[in-house]
Amino acid sequence: MVLFKLPTLVGTLACAASLVAAIDISVSSTGGNATNGHQYGFLHEDINNSGDGGLYAELIRNRAFQISERYPATLDGWHSVDGAKLLLKNLSEPLSDVLITSLNVAATNKQGQVGFRNDGYWGINVKARQKYTGSFWVKGNYSGKFTASLQSNITGETFGSVKVKSRATSDEWVEHDFELTPSKNAPNANNTFAITFDASSVGNGSLDFNLISLFPPTYKGRKNGMRVDIAEALEGFHPTLFRIPGGNMLEGLTNRTWWDWKNTLGPLKDRPGFTGVWGYQQTNGLGLYEYLQFAEDLGTTVVLAVYDGLSLNGDITPEDQLQKFIDGALDQIEFVRGPVDSKWGSVRAELGHPEPWKLEYVEVGNEDWLSGAPEGWDTFKEYRFPKFLSAINEAYPDIQVISSGSNYDGYNIPKPAGGDYHVYAEPDTLVSEFNKFDNITTPHIVGEMAAIHPNGGTGWDGPQQPFPWWGGAVGEAVSLIGYERNSDRIIGAAYAPIIRNMNRWQWAITMIQFTADTVTRSTSWYVWELFAAHTLTDTLPATSDFDPLYYVAGKNANTGGYIFKAAVYNSTDGADVPVKLSFEGIKAGTTGELTILTGPENPYGINSPYTGVNVVKTSKTTIKSDKKGTFQFALPNLSVAVLDTSPPKYRRWNRAVE
Ligand code: AHR
Repeated sequence: MVLFKLPTLVGTLACAASLVAAIDISVSSTGGNATNGHQYGFLHEDINNSGDGGLYAELIRNRAFQISERYPATLDGWHSVDGAKLLLKNLSEPLSDVLITSLNVAATNKQGQVGFRNDGYWGINVKARQKYTGSFWVKGNYSGKFTASLQSNITGETFGSVKVKSRATSDEWVEHDFELTPSKNAPNANNTFAITFDASSVGNGSLDFNLISLFPPTYKGRKNGMRVDIAEALEGFHPTLFRIPGGNMLEGLTNRTWWDWKNTLGPLKDRPGFTGVWGYQQTNGLGLYEYLQFAEDLGTTVVLAVYDGLSLNGDITPEDQLQKFIDGALDQIEFVRGPVDSKWGSVRAELGHPEPWKLEYVEVGNEDWLSGAPEGWDTFKEYRFPKFLSAINEAYPDIQVISSGSNYDGYNIPKPAGGDYHVYAEPDTLVSEFNKFDNITTPHIVGEMAAIHPNGGTGWDGPQQPFPWWGGAVGEAVSLIGYERNSDRIIGAAYAPIIRNMNRWQWAITMIQFTADTVTRSTSWYVWELFAAHTLTDTLPATSDFDPLYYVAGKNANTGGYIFKAAVYNSTDGADVPVKLSFEGIKAGTTGELTILTGPENPYGINSPYTGVNVVKTSKTTIKSDKKGTFQFALPNLSVAVLDTSPPKYRRWNRAVE
């Protein structure tokens, strides 16, 4: 069984360093390649309640009692207040064509306040002086006021409440908006949101409610937007590539229930919800528009996946029925980047974004080599991909179309398309793939990647590690360096899946974990952050002497800096690796900032969401090149490092990592 070699204690590392010959690396100033410029990113889909109950900031769980064949309407998350009777009803006049089930609240007492409350997504984070924005729809006769409040689920203490004057009538559904600003911080997230009303002022003994929504302030203040702390953790690793909307979510469980972007647009009352593929009903609240807005706010390039007629159950669309999906994909692209006077560009404009978004990359399907194999993959190669490719490139010749499988999945991808390679693996495997893309000519994304299994484990069939761990992050670093060395053809890599709700999840390893009021940045986050913070505009040719030191060198033409990114994986006897690094043209006395990340003594050490302790140590030093213009330093075993000679003020992300 191959395990990480035990790392040497810091005290002995220095001695070992002096005994080992230095690795000499010379970097030429010319002859490299321009990079794609967006090397580090992530995939988001709603897995692990990372959309509803996660990145999407809605606080109310099961806000519209949405249904699908697989997930019938339930009262999940809802409770009665002061004896009110709660009943789900399908009224003859529903709130909308797609939100057909509503909540009937009957006042069994004739006097006093009655109502209902919601648990949120495993709690609600209540903060004093923070404005919560809410709304609910009501039908029925009520002449009094509603009270909306945030309360402790343990003590019943109210942290904030607001009265909302009723405009309800029995003739139609009426929306009620409110703002609620708590005067007290809740001591923990075990809180609920309640709506109550005066039983004596209800006409027919009951009221009907639907689409009950509450948002805290969102990232960049977007309506229907993202949760600030999770969005900031994503922003914080400086992603430049954002792959949406999945993943298995795009494919859907069947070819009647795939993630249809058209169902995700516009007013929330017109969004039917989605039969999620990860074991729960989704709201469709985090829709295509919200994804694109978020990408714009993060400043990332988008890889937009379009449904291509294959679903997870192996449903394959026959050739004579494929055109509707091709047309749907063309409409989707037009929605994203079409002019404002085009059919779908005008819909985008009506929703609030007249300016077309930039869209350079469109991926056809997701992992078409997997579902319904071998027919799924055969039909992809025979007719599905070729038809999408020619239709998209005919309408948009500048778009880089990407096949959902790679050259390594047995597909000689037709030009000018690119491929998508996914790797979830042991760190040793990620290290062994360092050279994987050295000779490939077809452009590729690495659309999903992460270290998920321990070295020497039982691989894909074995359990994932419980959390990202330091040795896994170093393995990722080696693969990332391999991708970046080829970044004229490797468009970028996406960590996947990116976030995990600690209360309900299906996939353990994610870069970020969260609860209703915490966010944890894993060991991998620190590695990706460091590499992404130092953008190469060009790779530069360098001496190749890899193992145990893996590296890429280049420059940033905007800052004038030379950059060296490296990782040490399993050095001999765990010794430090001395490095002599010279860049052609660098003079004696040039300064560079050397950042070294090291982990805990145990390579399986994690950043635990339970303790909040960060096991990644960051050391930053300014070093000078010697008389010959050479930088000399030593890197510990299982470390990840960047040397950057850019003047600090020109670095894109020149900020300390907390
Ligand atoms: O990232 C989790 C899943 O892994 C994705 O949905 C799918 O594309 C892959 O198999």
